[in-house]
Amino acid sequence: MTTASGDGWFGLVTGAASGIGRATALAFTAAGARGVACLDIHADGNAETAARVEAAGARALQVTVDLADVGQIRTAYGVVHREFGRLDAAAHIGGYSWRGDTLRVTPEEWDQVVGVNLRGTFFSCQQALAIMYAQGSGAIVNMSADAAFDPIHGYSVQAAAKGGIATLTRSLAFEAARRGVRVNAVSPGITRVERTGYVPSRGAPVAVPGGTASDSSEGLERHTAAGRWMEVGEIAEVITFLARPGASGVNGELVRINGGPYPTLEF
Ligand SMILES: NC(=O)c1ccc[n+]([C@@H]2O[C@H](COP(=O)([O-])OP(=O)(O)OC[C@H]3O[C@@H](n4cnc5c(N)ncnc54)[C@H](O)[C@@H]3O)[C@@H](O)[C@H]2O)c1
Repeated sequence: MTTASGDGWFGLVTGAASGIGRATALAFTAAGARGVACLDIHADGNAETAARVEAAGARALQVTVDLADVGQIRTAYGVVHREFGRLDAAAHIGGYSWRGDTLRVTPEEWDQVVGVNLRGTFFSCQQALAIMYAQGSGAIVNMSADAAFDPIHGYSVQAAAKGGIATLTRSLAFEAARRGVRVNAVSPGITRVERTGYVPSRGAPVAVPGGTASDSSEGLERHTAAGRWMEVGEIAEVITFLARPGASGVNGELVRINGGPYPTLEF
């Protein structure tokens, strides 16, 4: 079996076909990963990410998985463990945002959004932890979202899923701490991505009392402290830091990456 210290380390990224996940797979490679497992439902985007990882000098393992399906998650982590022999860093990024009028949300929509984001993250953690506990080391970074903490009209289901990921992370970190494993989360603000993976329906426009709501993200950056979008590399760098031994004392934290707190008054 390969050792983390002597022969390089092995990482895994869900949501690797696009955006923050692709950037993280490449950041893992740049940080010296010997192998990076790229997990995503979108095989074409994932193949492109895997090709870029290989071009940058690491071994890429491309695995197609639907995070809504726990059986597929179990199979995917089994493949990774068999091929790599170990797992040092797992970034659970796969998922998506969804907006819906609270009075019209259907049970099916709830199940889909919470199923992919929250349940998918829990069962990904379960698989990663089993491998990491057995080897006595490892780090997990989960993906929350600012919409869970700074409310946006129509994002109640999203907030339940991404807020659940934040509290789940804290609980798992406590359990993992004496087994040599750390579990942290990041919460990005609005981040500019070129969507090259699977893009589900993002929900219908939502009516806002006293105003209008649009799903257009034009001008969104004006509502942030920094007045700009985050870039995927800015998120990937923090994830990579949390996933590596340099962050050995950081456990159970939620790191917000948004350029600064949102203004409460616009003046
Ligand atoms: N972009 C932002 O502003 C922002 C802000 C906060 C949080 N996030 C979160 O960051 C993560 C990455 O999003 P992104 O912005 O890079 O978007 P993205 O669409 O580029 O990436 C999402 C990836 O998840 C994959 N995915 C979706 N459903 C899946 C499923 N059922 N099984 C497996 N893979 C699936 C997609 O194929 C895609 O590759 C998401 O969890 C998102 O909620 C994004």
